Amino acid sequence: MSRDLLRQDDVRSLVRDAYRATPPTEGAVAARLYADAELAGVPAIAREHALGVANHLRYADIRPGDVVLDLGCGAGIDSVLAALRTGPSGRVLALDFLPEMLELTQRAAEEAGLANVETVEAEMEAIPLADDGVDVVISNGSLNLSPRKARVLAECARVLRPGGRVWFADLTVRDEDLPPEILTHPATWAG
Ligand SMILES: C[S@@+](CC[C@H](N)C(=O)[O-])C[C@H]1O[C@@H](n2cnc3c(N)ncnc32)[C@H](O)[C@@H]1O
Repeated sequence: MSRDLLRQDDVRSLVRDAYRATPPTEGAVAARLYADAELAGVPAIAREHALGVANHLRYADIRPGDVVLDLGCGAGIDSVLAALRTGPSGRVLALDFLPEMLELTQRAAEEAGLANVETVEAEMEAIPLADDGVDVVISNGSLNLSPRKARVLAECARVLRPGGRVWFADLTVRDEDLPPEILTHPATWAG
């Protein structure tokens, strides 16, 4: 949003509070976005807590051996799907700022029998990874939650190897379409 109406700290804490309190979607989001065949290898815990906005992985170029970074991984549905595609020679770094989400991702990876998913507790605005070590960045419904989107993109550029790939799915809104009282409502940011 180009109109700077909210304090960054307030946005960060309202997003944390919202996602900590989000109840399971009971598989409704997963069933809408992913085909049954795609979900076959995904444990119920990840399907039941899916909160994405699209199925960008269907189009993503993820190759065996890739290092994939999933920004705002939530309960890990895309991390699991990506890890199945990288195979054991690759790995997925599943990043989220909520330990509650990372615990779900960890459990999902274990239940899927995947040893190549590593959870990373961090903010996507300050990714604790070295430069040039990632082949693919994916993110589903998370970039839009950041009050510092340009900072997140700069971090992606830093951690990606030259020639790295990015697959984001997100919602956009033109801020001139909405009045300030809507733009500053916590539900607008979190939702
Ligand atoms: C809409 S959910 C999407 C979760 C997952 N990608 C999916 O498709 O189910 C957004 C996730 O991003 C995380 N998140 C939001 N802002 C973040 C930030 N600044 N840094 C790290 N994680 C963040 C939230 O904790 C939440 O798990």
